[in-house]
Amino acid sequence: MTDYDDEDLGQEAAADSLTPREVVVELDRYIVGQHEAKRAVAIALRNRWRRQQLPEDLREEVAPKNIIMIGPTGVGKTEIARRLARLTDSPFIKVEASKYTEVGYVGRDVESMIRDLVELSVNMVKDQEQEAVQNRAQMMAEERLLDILMPRLPEGAQEGEEEMPVSDLAPAASRTREKLRQLLRDGKLDERYVDVDVTPRSQPMVEIFSNAGLEEMEFNLRDVLGSLMPQRTKKRKVQIPEALELLAQEEAQRLIDIDKAIDLAIERVEQNGIVFLDELDKVAGREAGAGPDVSREGVQRDLLPIVEGSSVSTKYGMVRTDHILFIAAGAFHATKPSDLIPELQGRFPIRVELKALTREDFVRILTEPQNALIKQYRELLRTEGLEVVFTTEAVHEVARIAYDVNDRSENIGARRLYTVMERLLEEISFNAPEMTGQKIKITATYVREKLADVVKDHDLSRYIL
Ligand SMILES: Nc1ncnc2c1ncn2[C@@H]1O[C@H](COP(=O)(O)OP(=O)(O)OP(=O)(O)O)[C@@H](O)[C@H]1O
Ligand SMILES: [Mg+2]
Repeated sequence: MTDYDDEDLGQEAAADSLTPREVVVELDRYIVGQHEAKRAVAIALRNRWRRQQLPEDLREEVAPKNIIMIGPTGVGKTEIARRLARLTDSPFIKVEASKYTEVGYVGRDVESMIRDLVELSVNMVKDQEQEAVQNRAQMMAEERLLDILMPRLPEGAQEGEEEMPVSDLAPAASRTREKLRQLLRDGKLDERYVDVDVTPRSQPMVEIFSNAGLEEMEFNLRDVLGSLMPQRTKKRKVQIPEALELLAQEEAQRLIDIDKAIDLAIERVEQNGIVFLDELDKVAGREAGAGPDVSREGVQRDLLPIVEGSSVSTKYGMVRTDHILFIAAGAFHATKPSDLIPELQGRFPIRVELKALTREDFVRILTEPQNALIKQYRELLRTEGLEVVFTTEAVHEVARIAYDVNDRSENIGARRLYTVMERLLEEISFNAPEMTGQKIKITATYVREKLADVVKDHDLSRYIL
């Protein structure tokens, strides 16, 4: 019905054809330093695009160059993945490898990451399709609403005549309809209520089952139940604008060709999908898992076919994983990448190291990124009518303290900044509503005063900072 393939793939190419340099620039807006890691993921992303430009036979041959990001905790590994996800239109999912060692997970559930990725892709495509048919859906919704407001067959029409095309309507009726349309468009009817029939989408089931590792059962159940139960419609009384919206949604769903959307969604997963495997170090090590946990090596064995390329069955059909890009990350301080089973090591040819953050990095992290902590606090307190400014020295002092505490107790990287800042602004945060209209300057002295006690007392800082 709608010819969307070309157009949409074109759109995707536009978003995914950022050059490596452009990707790095985007990542730079949120992540300080870690240049090597940014370059690696930028190249990987570009390689997807390059592969798409190849003739088909060659395209099949090019395997993705999977990456492992190695670095201490809290230095930006997960953050890079999160930002990358927003940069790309490719289906992207982030999973913790360690979760598959938990009780309740059995071997093949590692495949659920692919099922989730497909689900996500299907939703993405559906949203895009619905967006594309928005205009038509809205027009149809308007007609349906006019039908509701003013049934086409006027009461007392001649019996025996089943239906009357609009054009045959008495001119008077048609004029009324147009008048009504005008009122509707002018928003003059916005206050009125109408009854609309809506088909609720049966979403909740997915939620209930999908966490229990029963996906398969869930989709069979759903298919069975879905075909047994008649399409329920629910009558709701809503105001006109909401009615229009509901009807438009329904029309949009009807306008898109769901089978075609699913095909496209699977195609995108197979060709452009990205899986971010966080905490890979937690499944490294070859000893059998202690206790009831699934052994780590077991998880690696389950990961292997997926990373190497295999078919995973999903409720939308089989999905090949050969060309899905895997980006793994882990601190690898207790274990090393060489503790992974050899087959898996071979599937991650690119290793990049993220560096521990310096005091200067902390200063920059506090102030520079688009979502910098100090900006966040300033905006939060502004909602209370409070103006908070930090002097340069104060920022350096916060960075210094965070760095020292990391040094002395445990190094948790940039996460330390969160605890230090929270402590620093605790009092202001509490009193803010009573301080409306004030302007507060945070100086280095203020920082030292607020944090001195905690910093001095090592045991205390272990708990508080
Ligand atoms: N280089 C950085 N630039 C800006 N912010 C950073 C940087 N590194 C860490 N952060 C901040 O610290 C927080 C924790 O970082 P992140 O989640 O990336 O850690 P990680 O490297 O994945 O650590 P872990 O090994 O514990 O998972 C993030 O929310 C981010 O805001
Ligand atoms: Mg992380």
